[in-house]
Amino acid sequence: MTCHSCQAYHQIGCSFTGARVAQCPGDFWVWETVLHENPFSRIMELGTAYGIFSCYLLMHCLHRGAEFQTIDTPGNPFWWNSGRKHSSGGSVIEHNNGRVIERLGLKDHYVQVDAFSPEGTKIIRDFVSQDGPSILFCDNGNKPREAKLFAPFLKVGDLLVVHDWKSEFYEIDIPPVVRENFEPLQEVDDKSATKFWKRTI
Ligand SMILES: C[S@@+](CC[C@H](N)C(=O)[O-])C[C@H]1O[C@@H](n2cnc3c(N)ncnc32)[C@H](O)[C@@H]1O
Repeated sequence: MTCHSCQAYHQIGCSFTGARVAQCPGDFWVWETVLHENPFSRIMELGTAYGIFSCYLLMHCLHRGAEFQTIDTPGNPFWWNSGRKHSSGGSVIEHNNGRVIERLGLKDHYVQVDAFSPEGTKIIRDFVSQDGPSILFCDNGNKPREAKLFAPFLKVGDLLVVHDWKSEFYEIDIPPVVRENFEPLQEVDDKSATKFWKRTI
């Protein structure tokens, strides 16, 4: 969960509107650029955790009239309800995320399911395979497995996004389906850890 230059942010906690996200500050910049330059009808996030990066993505979808869904495991104890710190701990930012999550209605876009279960896999496939460009953001516990299993569900024009580039997901983890049918969208600089591909074939 770190890019090359922001270990410090992970110690103090990177935030969006004052609540913690498991992202690097530079990740927001690349998301802004990519979402500005690419049309999309929906975004699916795998790995909700604090729910605040989900709010960021949901806000983009609300602006565009796009759909949004985020999923996390049944074991995820709803960080936003409990007031407890995420197991990665250590953030000095208070977990005051509940109010914003409530106001945005994030729970209506949240599904509690194991992404790799038959049910979870069906939810992901059915969501991203609908008409119009879909964006699938892989940010749960096993990014190489997610990319390998779920990238084939994407259509021409859809985006595959993987977090933790070069800390949990490396060049060698790019599955053949992505190498052969997708184009990378941007070079990841040393201030972000998010990698984007677009399906072209
Ligand atoms: C890195 S955190 C997500 C961070 C979040 N996207 C953010 O930016 O703040 C990873 C999350 O994936 C969830 N997770 C791990 N394995 C999963 C699985 N098999 N299915 C769904 N969620 C999973 C964990 O519970 C954890 O909350």
